[in-house]
Amino acid sequence: KSPFKNAAVLSDSYSSEASELADIEWDNLGFGLLPTDYMYMMKCSQGGNFSNGELQRFGNIELNPSAGVLNYGQGLFEGLKAYRKEDGNILLFRPEENALRMRQGAERMCMPAPTVDQFVEAVKETVLANKRWVPPPGKGSLYIRPLLMGSGAVLGLAPAPEYTFLIYVSPVGNYFKEGVAPINLIVEHELHRATPGGTGGVKTIGNYAAVLKAQSAAKAKGYSDVLYLDCVHKKYLEEVSSCNIFVVKGNVISTPAIKGTILPGITRKSIIDVARSQGFQVEERFVPVDELLDADEVFCTGTAVVVSPVGSITYKGKRVSYGVDGFGAVAQQLYSVLTRLQMGLIDDKMNWTVEL
Ligand code: COI
Repeated sequence: KSPFKNAAVLSDSYSSEASELADIEWDNLGFGLLPTDYMYMMKCSQGGNFSNGELQRFGNIELNPSAGVLNYGQGLFEGLKAYRKEDGNILLFRPEENALRMRQGAERMCMPAPTVDQFVEAVKETVLANKRWVPPPGKGSLYIRPLLMGSGAVLGLAPAPEYTFLIYVSPVGNYFKEGVAPINLIVEHELHRATPGGTGGVKTIGNYAAVLKAQSAAKAKGYSDVLYLDCVHKKYLEEVSSCNIFVVKGNVISTPAIKGTILPGITRKSIIDVARSQGFQVEERFVPVDELLDADEVFCTGTAVVVSPVGSITYKGKRVSYGVDGFGAVAQQLYSVLTRLQMGLIDDKMNWTVEL
């Protein structure tokens, strides 16, 4: 019996197709798009409610050239991962948190959003339909990318008349080309990612286009990514282009407080809880850039990057290095607890995982 509400739209071969492992080279996954079998689509008019979502074959979508998302950037995205356990079952990590964050972002961007139940159900359907693309244990994860966009045509500046919720997936490995080796960051002190009162605290697509210039310049100079400062004082840490940042000094782990300009990462929030459960003191506060100078360790967190150790940070031409060569002990400990939980290798006392 098919577990899908929309099984009718799927091909007959689908159950057997989904039960096998895709025939690809699983050992060298990076973070790039590998097209899979199905995507999920659900539409809604402005002022209406989302309904009748369905799985479709993965492929291009059609948009009116005047779509709100194309012209005025009315769009949000999410990111979460599914892991395959040794017993073949699939684990999702805190999908309802992504659903809630999308709803908060939708409110800021004047968009209707799926309910938490609709979102989680759609994620489950999409993952199960693409089950053969969930990497074998230890080889990576299935990255799940939900999108919410103003798909209706609008010319004068206004919310779009129609919205599309879409989910696609791709098997992925490590985000940075460094793999699990430490990354090298450069602090950006001219360009900013977010402003008070702006949209830095929601996962709108424009926040990511806004960092491309600084990120490209940094990569051209050999850095892995960019660390942004607040735009008012140009002094406090904000986040890296695609992840949050943590600074370790002794038993204290500090991270910038969520105050509207920083993305409230689900991995960030989980690492704070994991660190406290491991006996660390965690402070969410303003973290001056100077604290990087005498930190013991620095690491980044995010769905895509998981926990990434930082090997060096360059600020105004001065380079500070951390550790010798490899994961700092604190980052390693937190990474290990978090990923073993996500992969179902330890007891999930937090009740964070959802088994499919
Ligand atoms: C994620 O970590 O899931 C993100 O959304 C960051 C993205 C730029 C890859």
